[in-house]
Amino acid sequence: MALQKLGINKKDLKEDSPTGAEAGGKKLAVVLHKGKVFAIYAVCTHEGGPLEEGSMDGDEIICPWHSGAYNIMTGKADENTNWVHDTPVYKIVEGADGALSVDM
Ligand code: FES
Repeated sequence: MALQKLGINKKDLKEDSPTGAEAGGKKLAVVLHKGKVFAIYAVCTHEGGPLEEGSMDGDEIICPWHSGAYNIMTGKADENTNWVHDTPVYKIVEGADGALSVDM
């Protein structure tokens, strides 16, 4: 387990409003969803759209470029947007003070 600090505090996140972060040389989209924090690889598998600028629809994050949809908890691509493929998600660890780290 290699925890990397994200420099984001849970209290600064707004529900279903993706935020960009970087850890381990990877761009991540960090989302507070249903009170839990999730992190997904932010570079869209289609043409590299920025998922941190996307929006949430139910449990899915939607790419802002061509609306590819991924489950924010599993990284699974929605079969209705089959121009995108499954993508990695990372476990978030919350410190006592709300500071977020990612397990990469
Ligand atoms: S770049 Fe994300 S759907 Fe096309």
